[in-house]
Amino acid sequence: MLPKSALTERLGLAYPIIQAPMAGAATPALAATVSEAGGLGSLGLGTSTPEVTAAEIQRFKQMTEKPLNANFFCHDDPGDVAGTGHAMRQRLAPFFQEHNAGQVPEPTVPYGTFTAAHADVLTREKPAVVSFHFGLPDEELLEQVRATGALILCSATTVAEARALEIAGVDAVIAQGYEAGGHRGTFLGGDMTNQPGLFALLPQVCRAVRLPVIAAGGIVDGHTAAAAFMLGASAVQVGTAFLRNADSKISDPHRRALAQAGDESTRVTRLHSGKPARAIRNRLMDELADMEADVAPYPSQRSLVAPLGGKGDGAFQSLWAGQNVGLTREMPAADLVRTLAEETAARFKAFA
Ligand SMILES: Cc1cc2nc3c(=O)[nH]c(=O)nc-3n(C[C@H](O)[C@H](O)[C@H](O)COP(=O)(O)O)c2cc1C
Repeated sequence: MLPKSALTERLGLAYPIIQAPMAGAATPALAATVSEAGGLGSLGLGTSTPEVTAAEIQRFKQMTEKPLNANFFCHDDPGDVAGTGHAMRQRLAPFFQEHNAGQVPEPTVPYGTFTAAHADVLTREKPAVVSFHFGLPDEELLEQVRATGALILCSATTVAEARALEIAGVDAVIAQGYEAGGHRGTFLGGDMTNQPGLFALLPQVCRAVRLPVIAAGGIVDGHTAAAAFMLGASAVQVGTAFLRNADSKISDPHRRALAQAGDESTRVTRLHSGKPARAIRNRLMDELADMEADVAPYPSQRSLVAPLGGKGDGAFQSLWAGQNVGLTREMPAADLVRTLAEETAARFKAFA
């Protein structure tokens, strides 16, 4: 038996296991498979227009009536990005030449933040859960989301962020440890290198807030999930491990890199998007390591490096992964939900 909590009870989940929202990688089929298997499936809609958001939610609903977590980004608008990233463009020029990719483009803004138009989609589609990354929308928009009846979650990477989210009225906090793959959900700034790993963040967040806390970062099997529950988690949110199945939408080089990665394979970098995010090291990250401070503002850095991404072997792609990638296993998503549940229960039994 895995712990029951307000989250599992209210959502009718068999297991307190959330497939992490992963923009670009988590498909409606992946999310529906997870929800059908008794976990909570999520769609990463942070880079989606309101129209695409509606279409993706509808696709999920065609596959299952189980609950869905719809996830959005709440980043600051970078404003006018023309002329930014000048030094970065100069450093990228030889790579563009090498790949016959033409001139390094002027930076553009590839996607916006959460807007009223997205909130209108939620009002119509009513997903059971709405989660945010990079902080929350303004009070008026948040109120509109709350009025849909959705449970509201948001990532915190420090205790201060968890406290701020409790005051803002979220229903649960996602404690995102430094191990986590993909973007850091950080929204109160500060030095990334000070940020705690999950083993330190989770118990401190559980002590600091009265809300249910969802653990994220490095959870890949029964050992890691059981540890998170022992440290006070009400549920676990699992990202990287849910990339290794046929329903995730990632490139072949990304899939191969996940299969080959080990404990020293990942690093937090701003080079892919302009914001700190954990990815498997590749040529972009190694050869431009000294340019971390010269990135174009998020998310326009993406527009500078993306043209190189489609070329070749993943050397310039964002190969998102968490630090425990080496323990992930290739298996269908429904099997992973059940395996995580069984292995976790077995760990608890071992100490009963
Ligand atoms: C490929 C990938 C994409 C991600 N995209 C998002 C996203 O769109 N929204 C979000 O809230 N978190 C995103 N994350 C972070 C996850 O929510 C979660 O914090 C992280 O995956 C947990 O660590 P793990 O990868 O070690 O399981 C992403 C993670 C990965 C690996």
